[in-house]
This record gives sequence, C-alpha cells and structure tokens, in this order.
Amino acid sequence: MATSVETPTAESERTWIDLSIMRGDTKEELSPQPYRVPYTPGMVVLDAVRWVQEHEQPDLAVRWNCKAAHCGSCSAEINGRPRLLCKTRVDEFTGKALNVAPMKAFPLIKDLVTDVNWNYEVAKTIPPFKPAQQAPFTMYPEDVERVKEFHKCIECFLCQDTCHVLREHAGFNKYYGPRFMTLIASHEMHPMDAGDRIPLLHGDAGIAMCNVTGCCTEVCPQGIHITDNAIIPLKERVADRYYDPLKKWAYNRKRKREANADDKA
Ligand code: FES
Repeated sequence: MATSVETPTAESERTWIDLSIMRGDTKEELSPQPYRVPYTPGMVVLDAVRWVQEHEQPDLAVRWNCKAAHCGSCSAEINGRPRLLCKTRVDEFTGKALNVAPMKAFPLIKDLVTDVNWNYEVAKTIPPFKPAQQAPFTMYPEDVERVKEFHKCIECFLCQDTCHVLREHAGFNKYYGPRFMTLIASHEMHPMDAGDRIPLLHGDAGIAMCNVTGCCTEVCPQGIHITDNAIIPLKERVADRYYDPLKKWAYNRKRKREANADDKA
C-alpha cells in the first residue's frame, strides 16, 4: 500500500516543519509528541505523519488508503478541527502550530486510529432503497440533482466526530448522527422509493436531538449541505407526520385503508 514519502533532494533546499502528534494506546494515555519533518512544497499533513512513521516511529498508527480524499480513512483532528489528513496542506499552518490528534468522538485504538465500527452497525438498521416499481423508470433531472449530493459521502465520519450530540454528550444511543441523516435522505427523497423511514427518524434515529447548528456541514470534505438539504427537510417530514394534526389524521386514514385492503386480499 505505502509508497515512499518524497523527501527534498538537496539538503541546502530543506526547510522543516514542526508538528505534534497525539500518541497513546488509550485516551487517558494520549500525549502530544513533537516531531520535525522536512518540508516539501505541496505536502499534506498525511505526508508529514507518514514521514515520521517511515523515518522515526515505525509503530506510529495512522489509517489511510487513497491519499486522494476519496476513501475516508485518514480522518483525524488538526488543531482541534475534524479534517482529512490527506486533504489538508501543511502550508496552511505556516507560522502556526500544527497539532494532529485522533477523532475525539470514537473509541481510540492507537495513536491516530479510532474505532468507527458503531457507524457500520447503525447503517445496518436503516431500511435500504425500496423501488416502487421495477426499473426502468423515469427520473427527472431535478430529482436526480436532489439526491445526487448525498451520494458524494465518502464515510469519513468527520460529521459524526463534530456532532455535539455524539462528541460532547456521547449520545450514541439517542441519535444516529449526520452521516445517517444523509443516507436516510438519499432514500427518502428518491422519487421511486416506496420505503418509510419516518418512524425510524422519530424513534431510534433520534433526529429531534439535532439542533441544526450546521457544524457537520462545515467539516464535510465533500461539501454536502447536510443540515440544509438533509436534516431540515427530514425534520419537516417528521413534524408533518407526528405533529401536524391534519396530516397526522390523513396519514392514519391512509394506513387504515391500506390495512383493510391487505385484509381483503
Ligand atoms: S487517505 Fe483516503 S481520504 Fe485520506
């Protein structure tokens, strides 16, 4: 997997960057370790971390794969902000501290690697896309456009890391988090989907826990408008179903008719 990290060829041209990397086997043991790394123009923070791993600390744990902001593996925190190591250039921090730490919201495995397995367990509970009819079916450009941005998600879980419900309050049993609001939105807003995930949103997925501060949108490396385009419209659907008396009555009536039709069939 690993290719050799490029280092400056001429010693005289070298400049150096100083960074600190949080290291430890448990959250309690984490402590910042200082490193000095040769600077190459255009290098990203992942390059610096890998240089340390390759030249000084072979047991430094860091997860990465594509180095192209596509696989979502290298999520961490840089100066306290959730970011992709491979998409953050070091020259952004010229004259400033550069501190690299693991994602705070998830259990630590070692150094910069966290256990994000909880997210995959949540994903299993979400009913998949359920086509109302067999393909082929017609979809209009505006329908495609509406759900397209949700499919850009690379599952880096930076939005989960910054979500205050998960990060500050460890509300893993109360709220699925922004990543799964986009996943649910991608199904619910598909014009040919016949599934119904509104009861899930109202119940276990806990959409009411989100107070739409937009912090998830700010850290999304794919620029998905998570709050405006996924969470708020889904909240409106939940409100329509459960809190609008007229719509609630109409929905219950529809359900009753469907149940009667099933009984007769
Ligand atoms: S290594 Fe794939 S997103 Fe950073």
